[in-house]
Amino acid sequence: MSAQLIDGNALSKQLRAEVAQRAAALTARGLKPGLAVILVGDNPASAVYVRNKVKACEDVGFHSVLEKYEATLSEADLLARIDALNNDPAIHGILVQLPLPKHIDDHKVIEAISPLKDVDGFHVASAGALMVGEVGFKACTPYGCMKMLESIGLKDLRGKHAVVIGRSNIVGKPMAMMLLAANATVTITHSGTADLAAMTRQADIVVAAVGKRNVLTADMIKPGAVVIDVGMNRNDEGKLCGDVDFDGCREVASHITPVPGGVGPMTITMLLVNTMEAAERVAA
Ligand code: GUN
Repeated sequence: MSAQLIDGNALSKQLRAEVAQRAAALTARGLKPGLAVILVGDNPASAVYVRNKVKACEDVGFHSVLEKYEATLSEADLLARIDALNNDPAIHGILVQLPLPKHIDDHKVIEAISPLKDVDGFHVASAGALMVGEVGFKACTPYGCMKMLESIGLKDLRGKHAVVIGRSNIVGKPMAMMLLAANATVTITHSGTADLAAMTRQADIVVAAVGKRNVLTADMIKPGAVVIDVGMNRNDEGKLCGDVDFDGCREVASHITPVPGGVGPMTITMLLVNTMEAAERVAA
């Protein structure tokens, strides 16, 4: 059996078209959704991500502002910029690209963003809202993974066992909370897990979010499992690859996300969805 691919590019295209329609409708009412993206320093990967985010905003008809600063920017100056954007009515979402230079406290910066504009979903208020089932912005990568599951008919996960590999604040933990909110039975595994394969073999859905190649191999999944690969790594030839042994797992799984073209494009798509929602909340 060869697994069906969950195509993140195709799903993104469809969701972005819906966002573009909503943006046009709101703009016609005099409110154009606006996203501010802040980049500090010259991390080349961050520069690419940020460019892609701004380009995606333009494509769906958002107003977007890219603020680039030298790596020497002080924490106080960054906090002052965030304060100004929090109070800027043309801006509905604020994203500070991570990582930040070492002299700046990430946590302090994220907490300075108004939860009403926290379209990354990284603020403790957003994480807490997800935990207790209140309205708040969901972290974009796990939110995109949920949309991918929904696209193959997995919306209510009652009776399903989902195993998440990784416990980061930006993917693993919010992923587990979203799966739980959809009624899945959820197991979170991590570097301290004694027998990872014993866990993943029980899973109907596996989400791999570790940042290491071949964390999940064909012998570790049950036939028909759904495999979502959040990883973005380079193999020995410098080619982009995920955390999952794709060629092996695709012979056992029922559905699998490719890398590239899987979760990656969905992250930016959900940033657009969150920004759209932020603007609509202001208009409501
Ligand atoms: N760095 C890597 N991924 C992300 C992301 O999704 N948001 C932000 N702000 N920084 C990142």
